[in-house]
Amino acid sequence: MCGIVGVTADPRRLPNVAPVLVESLKRLEYRGYDSAGFALIECGTRRLLVFKDVGRIDSVVSRFMVASRCAITGIAHTRWATHGPPSQVNAHPHVDCRGEVAVAHNGIIKNYLELRRELESRGHRFVSETDTEVVPHLIEDELLRGASMLEAMRRLVRRLEGSYAIVAVYVREPNRIYFARNISPLVIGVGDGFNVVSSDIPSFLKLTRSVIIVEDGEVGFIEPGRVYIERDGRPIDALKRVRVVTWSAEDAEKGGYPHFMLKEIMEQPRALRETYVGVLSDDAVVRAVRLLAGARRIYVTGAGTSFHAALVYAYYMSRLASTLVTPFIASEYYVYAPTAGEGDVLVAISQSGETIDTLQALREFKRRGARVVAVSNVVGSTIPRESDATVYTRAGPEIGVAATKTFLTQVLTLQVIAALYAREVGALSASEASRIVDALSAAPRVARRSLESTANVVERLARSLKGSSSAYVLGRGLGVPLAMEAALKIKEVSYLHAEAYPAGESKHGPIALVEPGYPVIFVAVPPDELVEKVRGNIEEMRARGAYTIVFTTVGDGFKADVVVELPRADEILAPYAVMPPLQLLAYRLAVLLGRDPDKPRNLAKTVTVE
Ligand code: M6R
Repeated sequence: MCGIVGVTADPRRLPNVAPVLVESLKRLEYRGYDSAGFALIECGTRRLLVFKDVGRIDSVVSRFMVASRCAITGIAHTRWATHGPPSQVNAHPHVDCRGEVAVAHNGIIKNYLELRRELESRGHRFVSETDTEVVPHLIEDELLRGASMLEAMRRLVRRLEGSYAIVAVYVREPNRIYFARNISPLVIGVGDGFNVVSSDIPSFLKLTRSVIIVEDGEVGFIEPGRVYIERDGRPIDALKRVRVVTWSAEDAEKGGYPHFMLKEIMEQPRALRETYVGVLSDDAVVRAVRLLAGARRIYVTGAGTSFHAALVYAYYMSRLASTLVTPFIASEYYVYAPTAGEGDVLVAISQSGETIDTLQALREFKRRGARVVAVSNVVGSTIPRESDATVYTRAGPEIGVAATKTFLTQVLTLQVIAALYAREVGALSASEASRIVDALSAAPRVARRSLESTANVVERLARSLKGSSSAYVLGRGLGVPLAMEAALKIKEVSYLHAEAYPAGESKHGPIALVEPGYPVIFVAVPPDELVEKVRGNIEEMRARGAYTIVFTTVGDGFKADVVVELPRADEILAPYAVMPPLQLLAYRLAVLLGRDPDKPRNLAKTVTVE
C-alpha cells in the first residue's frame, strides 16, 4: 500500500503547490514510509523536476529542499515497497525515457513483466525493479504514436492488469494531472482555483472538504479550475458527484475512525483484495511452494497472532494435502530446532518481519541446514532478508498494536500456499487446487458482509460482557486457532481475561471455573461433524448455567443465549466470516471499558527483545 497525491493550482489562488504537496503527502505517511518522491512542474521554467529517495517524507523533503521549491503542479508518493526493495531508483515518481512524463502509482500491476519485456524490445530503457515503471513508458509509447495524453491514458488502462491508482504529469501540459483507477483508492478534492487528487481524503482536508470519489474503471484529469472524468470514453458529470465531508482534518488521520484498530478491522476487505491480487502474481509463491514440496519435514512458527496464523496453516496443510506440519511458538524454538536439519523447511510468519523470537528460530533452523519460507507484511525487513523465499501480504501498514487485518491476510496467503502445495505433491488435482484458489477471491466479500451484518449484535454483546472478568473461547478444528486469536484480541485490548481451548478439552479441567453467568464463546465452523460436537459442548456449558454465545457460519439451530449468525461460509472461507466480528467484539469491549485499543499497556507493535 502506498500513498499518492497531486495538486495543481492557479498561481493567483495558490502561488506555489510544493509546500502544499509536502503537507498533503505527510498525511498519507500511514500508508507506507519506505521512500518518498515528488515530480514538480517548476514555476516559470515549466520544467519537470523529480526528487526522490529512501527514507521518511521529512528526510526526503529536507534532503532536496522540496518545500522551498516553486511549482505550479506536482505529484508525490510515499512508498510501501512491494516490487523491489526500498531504494532511490525504486522510489516513485517514475519517468519515461525522455523525462517528460512522471507517474506515481499505488497498487500492483500483475502483468508488468510481460509489458516490460515488450517495451524493452521496442527500445525503452528501465532503471528500476518496480512494476510501476511500465506505466510512463507505455504512455510515452502512445505519445510517440501520436496519441494525445488523454488517449494515451485510455490505451494504458486497457493494457494494465491488477490494481492501480495512477497520477501522471506531462511536461507539455503543465496545468494538468492525469489519473486512472482500478481497485486502489483515489479521490479528488475540489477547490476554488485548485484541485487535488489523492489516495485518501485526509491528505487534503486542510484545503477542501468537497470530494469526488473516483470509481474503478475511470480515467480523467484535473486542472486548477476543472475536473474531467470519463468511463469507457464517455464523459461523466463529475460535479454532480461532489460530496462534502464533515470530518475534521485531525480526525481524518484515522480515516474518520476514532481508533486505528477500528479502521484496520474495517479495511480488511480491501487488504484481503490487495493481498489476493498480489499473491497470485508473485513469483515468490512458486519458489515457496517448490521448496515446501521438496521438504522432508515442514515446521511453521510465529509469535502472537502470527503463531495463530501458523496453526491455521497447519490445519489446511492437513486438510488439503494430508501433510503433517509441526507448528511451534517462535520463542520455544529450542525444543524444535534440534530436530531439524538438511531437507527440512521452516515457514516463518511475521507481520513486521522483525520479531526477535521468530528471527532466532529462523537462524537456529538455518544453522542446522533447514531452508526458510517467510510470510511477512514488511518488504525488506530482517526475516524476509534472511529467508530463502518470502511471500508478502499486502495489508498495508498496521498502526494499531493489535494485529487485525494482518492476521487474515496471512491466513489468505497461507491458504494459497497450502492449495498450491497440495497440487504440487499430487494431493489435489490441478482443477481442485484452482477451485480453492478461485474460491478465495470471495474472502474480501465475506469479510465485508460479516462486518456489516454483525455490527449491532456485537455492540449488544460487548455491553453484556463488559462486567465479566473472565471468559472462555472454544472451538474445534479450524475453530481452535480462530478462538485463540479471538481470546488474544480480547485480552490485549480490553484486559478482560479470555482463554481459548479446544472445545473437547474443556471438560478435562477448564469447565471447573464455569458457574452461572460465566461467559463461554463458541466458534462453530465446518466440517459438519465438528459442528455437531460443538453443539454437545454448548449443552454441557448450558447445563452448568454458563452464558453461552455462538459465532456460527453454519446457520442458526443452536441452543445458546446469543447466536451470532455469520455469513454462510465453507471450511475455506470460514476465517473471513468469523474473525472480523470477534475482533470488533474485542475493540468494543476495550472502548466500553475505557481502554486505548491502539496502544494497550505493556505492549509494543514489534517485539525485538527476547
Ligand atoms: O510482527 P509479528 O507478526 O512477528 O508480531 C508477532 C506478535 O508480536 C504480534 O502478533 C502480537 O501478538 C500482536 N500484539 C497481536 O495482536
